[in-house]
Amino acid sequence: MLHVDGLTKSFGSLDVLKGVHMEVKKGEMVALMGPSGSGKSTLLNIIGGLLAGDSGSITLDDRTYGTRGPANVVDVRRNKVGWIFQDFHLLDNLSAVDNVAIALELSGIPSDAAVTEAEDALRKVGLGDRLHFIPDQLSGGQQQRVAIARAIAGNRPVLLADEPTGNLDIASGKDVMKLFKDLCHDEENPISILMVTHDPDLASNADRMLLLNDGRTEASDIRSAWGLDEEGEEE
Ligand SMILES: Nc1ncnc2c1ncn2[C@@H]1O[C@H](COP(=O)(O)OP(=O)(O)O)[C@@H](O)[C@H]1O
Ligand SMILES: [Mg+2]
Repeated sequence: MLHVDGLTKSFGSLDVLKGVHMEVKKGEMVALMGPSGSGKSTLLNIIGGLLAGDSGSITLDDRTYGTRGPANVVDVRRNKVGWIFQDFHLLDNLSAVDNVAIALELSGIPSDAAVTEAEDALRKVGLGDRLHFIPDQLSGGQQQRVAIARAIAGNRPVLLADEPTGNLDIASGKDVMKLFKDLCHDEENPISILMVTHDPDLASNADRMLLLNDGRTEASDIRSAWGLDEEGEEE
């Protein structure tokens, strides 16, 4: 589904990504962890077509890119990846259904079809009874689910989530993880999720964990993330 090969990115003399190799399979939920400033958002931004890498490549479905500027990967942003951010990024004055539909309309889908798809996506995230609520009338967890509906609407195969639970209480954060798992493990139409989180407890919901360290990703497990040794004692 998603392959990253030898991706590098520097900002001036700061080498942030030094040759990242990783993949996310179809139906897989992968948690990306790493210290603050290690380049997690930079990596997501390049995968999502918001930023060009310096060298290396990304293959998503049938599309290869990575070092081309954002203007050359419009199709990736429109059709391939959905984004979820810490602070939801919803439009305050639009209902849930319009928040999702407007994103589809911007990608060229006619209004009627956009509304139908938006309603489907909102039902999928459990908000079928909140279609016409504006963000202020929804809880934080429900607002994040609107953002998730927006990200999956239009059948985008990959979700990129940058600290999606950072603004949620513990219970709502767990609900989002459960929803992510259900979306990835859906038998009819599985998607793939690459999620940045600081919280090892939430990361343990993923199928796999990656650690971004010194510009490269390495496989990680929940023990090393907690700083635990093999017996589960703290080191
Ligand atoms: N547009 C930019 N220009 C210059 N430096 C940047 C830019 N974006 C990120 N950086 C730097 O790159 C490093 C990695 O940033 P980031 O990817 O946001 O890390 P993380 O998401 O892991 O906290 C940081 O040192 C950050 O200051
Ligand atoms: Mg970040």
